[in-house]
Amino acid sequence: MSRLKIAQVLRNGPVGSVIDVRGWVRTRRESKQGFAFLELNDGSCFANLQIIIDRSIEGYDTLLKQLTTGSSIRVEGELKASPAKGQAVEVHARSVHVYGGADAEKYPLQKKGHSYEFLREIAHLRPRTNTFGAMARVRNTVCAAIHEFYQSRGFLYVHTPIITTSDCEGAGQMFQVTTLDLARLAQSRGEVDFSQDFFGKRASLTVSGQLEAETFACGLGDVYTFGPTFRAENSNTTRHLAEFWMVEPEMAFYELEDNMQLAQEFIQFVLRQALERCGDDMKFFADRVDKTVITTAENIVNNQFVRVSYTEAIELLQKSGQTFEYPVEWGLDLQSEHERWLTEQKFGCPVILYNYPRSFKPFYMRCNEDGKTVRAMDVLVPRAGEIIGGSQREERLDMLLHRMTECGLNPEEYWWYIDLRRYGTVPHAGFGLGLERVLLLLTGMTNIRDVIPFPRTPKHAEF
Ligand code: 4AD
Ligand code: MG
Repeated sequence: MSRLKIAQVLRNGPVGSVIDVRGWVRTRRESKQGFAFLELNDGSCFANLQIIIDRSIEGYDTLLKQLTTGSSIRVEGELKASPAKGQAVEVHARSVHVYGGADAEKYPLQKKGHSYEFLREIAHLRPRTNTFGAMARVRNTVCAAIHEFYQSRGFLYVHTPIITTSDCEGAGQMFQVTTLDLARLAQSRGEVDFSQDFFGKRASLTVSGQLEAETFACGLGDVYTFGPTFRAENSNTTRHLAEFWMVEPEMAFYELEDNMQLAQEFIQFVLRQALERCGDDMKFFADRVDKTVITTAENIVNNQFVRVSYTEAIELLQKSGQTFEYPVEWGLDLQSEHERWLTEQKFGCPVILYNYPRSFKPFYMRCNEDGKTVRAMDVLVPRAGEIIGGSQREERLDMLLHRMTECGLNPEEYWWYIDLRRYGTVPHAGFGLGLERVLLLLTGMTNIRDVIPFPRTPKHAEF
């Protein structure tokens, strides 16, 4: 008899037949009539499968002692329509095999209702909880939808490097990669000679695959890269990770407006897929985490995003009558309190902010004719704040060189990037979407550490 996943059993299991199911016991109850009820979960869906074990089964008393919360079992039994409410079907066990017990005195998930903080300390066991099971399935669906969206539009998936020698965002927030003996270097005084290092020069983990994605876009048209990204920013917030996942499309012949349109359609597609395919998991988040998650996602799927220039946004914020912690002034970057006011209070929907001052944006963004702003765009959403950052790229050689110098970069180190403007340059644009920020939006979880399997944050990389 081949094993059935619980999702299959609950969808259209063969009622009347004997089936084989395997998983972990979530709860056990005993009835006065001499039955035991188990709730079995195998991760294939949110719901548990009810197993009924009759006293007449061989070794009932010993077996029952082993069937504690967290124990792993195989059950063979008949699938029957359930007379009780709460489930449509149940399994009447004929035999139960225990793969591994879980000592009720010691198993950390013996009781329900642990705090997310506590669960972070047992990140190796959190996949067995309702919340992290639901999160893992939603995350998986979102990733599949990301590929589907670009694949269905003829984008090529390209793999950009994890180890790099250029700083795309120019913010100096990179983790160094080295094989130099740091302990020995610490003892010797003087300059570090990076020519002796593994790559013969200073190398780091990438903060973005954009620059390399541009090389493929400027030859193959529409591409995207999707992978882990690393930032050594020492900000211990609920929205920042040192290691996060970013999807970055890059399109030749796109201008800023095309980029905005793609970003909107992309977010709407991904959310729609999550709503359609993860109904039970989304219902759980709505019931237990934030009751607005489904309506928020539906609103985003069904409505146009508002487009507001940075300059207009500053005016709106100044006229808002709100007191903000950080100053609002043309030329200053927006803080998350400002972004949240715009998307949550003022518009109540996603907002695409564009044409930011060039003073605080990276070198690669295309300069506007006003000499003050660049063709940048950020997509802001309720709850998660900024989920997308992108721009039209500076495709003019002279302007690019000018901006690099302005930003304190050495053009010689970016010779290959500059070559794209020397040979067959084209207008192009792209953006980066933070996967975990999308998950904050979708699930209503408030801490980004709880939407990634193994969060990396300052002073934390235990698992
Ligand atoms: O706005 P960012 O820095 O843009 C770029 O890296 C561009 N090179 C992307 C591009 O145009 N191809 O980052 C893009 C997105 C942010 O909007 C946010 O969603 C996410 O990446 N992000 C983070 N997510 C979690 N933790 C962090 N520390 C993040 N930093 C950025
Ligand atoms: Mg940004």
